[in-house]
Amino acid sequence: MLLFVMILEIRNFMIIKDAIFKRKSIRKYKMDGLNEETISKVEEMLKNVKGLYEEINFKGHLVKDGMKVQALFNNFIGKYIKVKAPHYIVITSDKKDGYLENVGFAFEEIVIQLTCMGIGTCWVGAPFDRNMVKDMIEIDDNQEPILIIAFGEPEDFFTMYRKGINEYKRKTLDKVVLGEIDSIFEDIFNYVRVAPSAINSQPWMFSKEDGIINTYCIERKNKITKALYDKMNLIDMGISLYHLKVGLEKNRMSFEVIQSQEGKMKSHKYINTIKYR
Ligand SMILES: Cc1cc2nc3c(=O)[nH]c(=O)nc-3n(C[C@H](O)[C@H](O)[C@H](O)COP(=O)(O)O)c2cc1C
Repeated sequence: MLLFVMILEIRNFMIIKDAIFKRKSIRKYKMDGLNEETISKVEEMLKNVKGLYEEINFKGHLVKDGMKVQALFNNFIGKYIKVKAPHYIVITSDKKDGYLENVGFAFEEIVIQLTCMGIGTCWVGAPFDRNMVKDMIEIDDNQEPILIIAFGEPEDFFTMYRKGINEYKRKTLDKVVLGEIDSIFEDIFNYVRVAPSAINSQPWMFSKEDGIINTYCIERKNKITKALYDKMNLIDMGISLYHLKVGLEKNRMSFEVIQSQEGKMKSHKYINTIKYR
């Protein structure tokens, strides 16, 4: 029995590991929606989602009737956030230090699990406020809506997965990792490199030392780009950290967040330190 469970776990892990390199944002969906059994599975997954920092409360609310979310898009100009899907996950969180990385990390696992199930997803930076969502979800007093994830069956299933790593428009490893790395860490940082980010901005930078990796996010000076990107880029950082965890675990290493001595880097701000073994 134990062997059977272990085999299942390994299979599941292998699928997650592969899904990281196959995932892409899906923006066109079949509107008839997923069946009840699948919706229940997603609800179950949302109950077990884990963040980076235990002390921050957050929640993923499944909105089965996507029309309710789509109706809110009329409050905004611009097309980017108007991703029409049959279902959405509305993410809410306490606003404590690190809450944005925390939800990025937590819900990228859901995105990857959905990818494993053949369900399309797209992170959507919709700036909803409490008032907008209060009739749609039960939101705790201390929490605020942060962003949403659109999901459902892709309009054309053949567009669901990437064919290979070369299809990703991403920065090369030398632009995201400081210093020399061996082939094992090249493999690990390839997991990180392909992570999704708002407007594909890839704000991350990592410096690997012996037993630790310091993580940094680009620091924008221009007021307009700051307003546009700052919040989303911290979510992106959390997403990249989930990818780092999968990359380390695939290479049989552990992932632990520590707040160490703050590393310093020009034009980037320190986020946290990952201890690996
Ligand atoms: C935090 C975050 C917010 C995003 N917001 C939107 C959005 O509002 N609309 C959209 O179409 N895509 C959105 N995206 C998807 C990105 O544009 C996409 O991940 C990026 O261009 C890379 O492409 P890929 O996901 O297909 O690899 C968002 C992604 C992240 C991580």
